[in-house]
Amino acid sequence: MQESAAPNDPARLAYEAFASIYDDFNHLNDYEMWIGALLPELEKHGLRKGRVLDIGCGTGRAFEPMLRRGWEILGCDLTPGMLAEARRKFGDAVPLEVADIRALPTFGEFELVWALNDVINYLAGDGDLERALAGMRANLAPAGLVLFDANTLSLFEASFASGDDEGMSVGEWRWVGQADGVEPGGVFEAQVSGGEIEPHVHRERHWTEQQIQAAMETTGLELLAVLGQREVDLQVVLEQPPDEWDHYKVIYIARAAG
Ligand SMILES: C[S@@+](CC[C@H](N)C(=O)[O-])C[C@H]1O[C@@H](n2cnc3c(N)ncnc32)[C@H](O)[C@@H]1O
Repeated sequence: MQESAAPNDPARLAYEAFASIYDDFNHLNDYEMWIGALLPELEKHGLRKGRVLDIGCGTGRAFEPMLRRGWEILGCDLTPGMLAEARRKFGDAVPLEVADIRALPTFGEFELVWALNDVINYLAGDGDLERALAGMRANLAPAGLVLFDANTLSLFEASFASGDDEGMSVGEWRWVGQADGVEPGGVFEAQVSGGEIEPHVHRERHWTEQQIQAAMETTGLELLAVLGQREVDLQVVLEQPPDEWDHYKVIYIARAAG
């Protein structure tokens, strides 16, 4: 694994500190259930089983459900510490690369290129989203599909304007939202500390649907679906239209335009 991508990036520094507890901190996230809801939406747009490029794959939470369904995976992430956790769990079953979504190499042609669970929100700089989408597009096979999620204002309010809300903390680890409130397009921070980990800050940007649609047009992606995500009776529900307050994530599905 190369280790050269953006060594001082705030997201990379945060995830180096967070990596060892990431899976435990997020143990309630059920990727089998989530992917079981996402794939049928992709199939509506002609998804063909083959290779998936999992960008910002982290510790590989999405790997097992995809391997079980017969997909070949290439995982990449900005943070070597997160990839080390993935390597520990999956050995050589999944090739891994250190890579920044804003300067993505062309790894090949993939039937599916996705970035799951906040990866897009860690892009806080102007132009970052366009660079990321251009890199995703460049890795598509003919008729390949792009999927990513973006956090809504309701999630930002619950996680980044939460103060020292016990509900955001897990075991001995504290997640403390630093913002006084939320507004569309804002950048928000939360501090994580406790146990053996180095205290660190997560900094995420809210992207509006209009900003994402504009970035897709600039980078030659055609938007196929925009879905709001919520959970009902412990099941993931994807529905239209997305709502910043009824849903906690918005799911975007796209393909290369033209
Ligand atoms: C919340 S984690 C999600 C990890 C994994 N996709 C999952 O669902 O568990 C966000 C991940 O995005 C990665 N990340 C943040 N900025 C990135 C960038 N510019 N390029 C690639 N990965 C990035 C972090 O290192 C981290 O592993």
